[in-house]
Amino acid sequence: MDPKPNIAIDGPAGAGKSTVAKMVAKELGYLYIDTGAMYRAVTLKALREGLDLNEPVSVGEMAAAVSVELIAGDDHNLKVLLDGEDVTEQIRSPHISRNVSLTASIPAVRKHLVKLQKEMAKQGGVVMEGRDIGTVVLPDARIKIYLTASTEERARRRREELFAKGYHVDQEQMEAEILERDRIDTSREADPLTPAPDAEIIDCSSFTAEKVVKMIKDRVLTER
Ligand code: CDP
Ligand code: CDP
Repeated sequence: MDPKPNIAIDGPAGAGKSTVAKMVAKELGYLYIDTGAMYRAVTLKALREGLDLNEPVSVGEMAAAVSVELIAGDDHNLKVLLDGEDVTEQIRSPHISRNVSLTASIPAVRKHLVKLQKEMAKQGGVVMEGRDIGTVVLPDARIKIYLTASTEERARRRREELFAKGYHVDQEQMEAEILERDRIDTSREADPLTPAPDAEIIDCSSFTAEKVVKMIKDRVLTER
């Protein structure tokens, strides 16, 4: 029998990638992999060490020596271990969100993390989400989705999520922050955010996560 296909989900911040990817993985019995968490963990370490994120050589050297592990936990939630320490909550802070795109634009950081990500998907049956999954990490993935939504809606979703965690960010500031992250992610030289030519583009501004999950599951069933 064919191995289970890999599913690549890319798109900008707050589009709903993690929510949808986790649900698809749960419903199909696949492994969920959040590659953004890996860039966030490397950013946390760089900031803790007082490294200048505009200084690619030292950040790249640190990234090549760091250990970042994603451990599947209850209900397909991932635990993120940085050199063995559980940093799952810390990497979601607004401070990390504001800095992560700088770390992710460093080619040596990407080279190291992309290698780990390719390894994780070798057996098939993963739902991997990020920015360059369909284009760079899993160019042969049988199913590629580019999930997007309006800036206003993405900022609204992200604010609600942060509010539940005790952070208050106003709508205007949130829109500015995600637009700045989109700008860096789409304009960097190394593996920029762009839909793979064979990706299905889904604008989910007015779709529930359940609807998007159904669209992706239907794709998987018709691929078999
Ligand atoms: O969840 P959210 O959309 O806020 O972001 P994330 O998926 O946690 O990714 C954080 C950042 O990591 C992105 O803004 C990118 O700069 C970077 N990233 C990347 O460059 N390549 C990936 N495959 C995943 C994330
Ligand atoms: O991973 P990404 O940054 O693309 O987005 P996310 O963290 O999965 O989603 C951000 C928020 O939007 C979450 O609180 C989701 O529950 C919500 N969401 C939504 O309201 N409608 C969707 N179709 C998808 C996600």
